[in-house]
Amino acid sequence: MATIRLGDLAPDFTADSSVGMINLYDYLGDSWGILFSHPADFTPVCTTELGAAANFKDEFDKRNVKMIALSVDSAASHAEWIKDINETQNTTVNFPIIADEDKKVSTLYDMIHPNADSNLTVRSVYIIAPDKTVKLTLTYPASTGRNFHELLRVIDSLQLTEYHKVATPADWKHGEKVVVSPAINTEDAKKMFPKGVEEIKPYLRLTPQPNV
Ligand code: BEZ
Repeated sequence: MATIRLGDLAPDFTADSSVGMINLYDYLGDSWGILFSHPADFTPVCTTELGAAANFKDEFDKRNVKMIALSVDSAASHAEWIKDINETQNTTVNFPIIADEDKKVSTLYDMIHPNADSNLTVRSVYIIAPDKTVKLTLTYPASTGRNFHELLRVIDSLQLTEYHKVATPADWKHGEKVVVSPAINTEDAKKMFPKGVEEIKPYLRLTPQPNV
């Protein structure tokens, strides 16, 4: 197990899941991916998170992102838990949950932080680009449920900045102004961004989001 850093290739794996054996790279194909871990089945915060994720499936689909969750319990346990999630969160879990009983995948992805808990995974998130490089990692403690609006916002930023020479400022949301990449001088930026470039400081230039 090595630390997985931004820009690294996401380690591939084949594992059992709520939908049978699954290979990460085959499952993702040419899509973006989001892999997120849960401490254990039949736990309250995880139940709400998986419900939130399932309810956002359309939004992830629109962005060409496939979801895959992980919990260190068996596929049979996942199947029972999914019934509870569907019932209590008014949803249908519509993506695989890896059954990582032997902790193979959670070890590969460094999802167990022994000084927090030696058995359960923390709440890790990996966003994986179509070329299988890791674009974002995020680690929350077991006691804090993740914000799925934020995960979609980050995906919007990652997909925008992948294809345009811009970056997104604090609290940016899809459709708002973005900053011009510091690598581009203002003269070139004005040619590159026909919607206009507002120079607040030579290093702080705003432009309307180029792809809306
Ligand atoms: C939960 O998902 O609710 C949870 C799991 C482990 C520790 C604390 C909360």
